[in-house]
Amino acid sequence: MTINVGLIGIGNIGTGVAEYLRDYGVSHGLRLKAVADADPGKLKNASLPGTFLTDDASKVTKDPQIQIVIELIGGENPARQIKLDAIDNGKAVVTANKFTISRYSRQIFQAARSRGVDVRFEASVGGGIPIIQSLQEGLAPNAITLITGIVNGTTNYILTRMSEGMEYETALKTAQEKGFAERDPYLDVSGQDSKHKLAILASVAWNSWIDPASVPCEGISQITPGDMDFAAEFGYAIKLLATARKRSSKVELRVSPALVSVSHPLAKIADEFNAIYLDGNFCGPQMFYGRGAGRLATTSAVMADVMHIARNLRRGVRDELPSLDEKYELATDSVSGGYFRLDLKHVAGSLAKVADILARHGISIRDSVQRNKFKREVNGDIVVPDIITVEPVSDSRVKKALAELEECDSVYGKPFYLRIED
Ligand SMILES: NC(=O)c1ccc[n+]([C@@H]2O[C@H](COP(=O)([O-])OP(=O)(O)OC[C@H]3O[C@@H](n4cnc5c(N)ncnc54)[C@H](OP(=O)(O)O)[C@@H]3O)[C@@H](O)[C@H]2O)c1
Repeated sequence: MTINVGLIGIGNIGTGVAEYLRDYGVSHGLRLKAVADADPGKLKNASLPGTFLTDDASKVTKDPQIQIVIELIGGENPARQIKLDAIDNGKAVVTANKFTISRYSRQIFQAARSRGVDVRFEASVGGGIPIIQSLQEGLAPNAITLITGIVNGTTNYILTRMSEGMEYETALKTAQEKGFAERDPYLDVSGQDSKHKLAILASVAWNSWIDPASVPCEGISQITPGDMDFAAEFGYAIKLLATARKRSSKVELRVSPALVSVSHPLAKIADEFNAIYLDGNFCGPQMFYGRGAGRLATTSAVMADVMHIARNLRRGVRDELPSLDEKYELATDSVSGGYFRLDLKHVAGSLAKVADILARHGISIRDSVQRNKFKREVNGDIVVPDIITVEPVSDSRVKKALAELEECDSVYGKPFYLRIED
């Protein structure tokens, strides 16, 4: 039985999916019946004989012969409504759209449940890495206690170049030139992209809707190649981590750059690659690694979803979508080791004042290093960067210590802090 597929959005990923269906669809019993895209130029360039081309998405969502609609336009609206319209018209939906899935999964899944159709979203996290299906099926017997990963290829590419000594701005420009970063890289470098992906992973792992807005999020723009050097000296790499931990009824979520021990498998993930490390009570630690973006890898994930739904349609079955109705408290004060970078005034007693502030907040110093080669003059003062790593401490204590350090007359400017994920 041939399954008719409709595609909405024939941009970067849509082109890969359309070409896959054109070249290999027949052998999987799939036909690309219609494609909609807002850009007439893209439709004109598409070489898809026998496929109906339109600039009107509703012609795809309403076509009675189409059984699966693939939404690849991205963004929030009209992408959300297009998926709901397709479901309303009895079509299964496949999407790579992390924004709409993380924010509106409950509404979209509920609509699909009522209409008796499938919704799959493998490509919304980790590009070609089959992490959603693994969480839903291969790891289903486990209570997942930890998910931590590098889920944004752009920032990992930038941090990799910075670990080789490149400044942030140059590394960002290189990423843009190579096509890894958008012209407006805000969503990537601010951690927002990772935040939506983490919310999806945590929602699937714990069958609980995690509002992406509730995920504390820090980006990478404050990191310097000097931080990379110091971190390496202490035995760490700096990575933008998206982390979700579950301890009994509490879930801790965060996207932030962090120091990762060089012995941890995530420390070795370089360039634009993604990796998701997780731990389950039966399966133990596992790591999924691969291309987190790009036409071919993302097409692989989208087509895996289409093939899965086509199998379901042929058997007359559908998947059980997560109810997302478990409730967990969000942990707000987590504990981790830490890395302080301060510009210290180069006068007797400066370091002692800093050590005193940390001690008064119950923060124990693990290691400290100053490099005179980085000494410089600022507004008549000689300052030298001082790096202090500390034993595990709560975020709330760190926050208070940072506020006091900022006021301290021995510290120049704003102190910088990163967590250490041991
Ligand atoms: N690129 C990746 O590596 C990657 C990886 C994983 C997931 N994804 C996800 O995949 C999705 C597609 O990404 P992409 O990189 O392929 O985006 P893209 O290149 O910008 O393609 C999107 C296409 O959809 C069209 N479009 C926009 N609104 C439309 C509408 N209302 N009706 C019909 N067509 C419309 C756009 O036309 P205009 O250009 O005229 O607006 C464009 O041709 C996004 O959700 C993205 O997050 C992408």
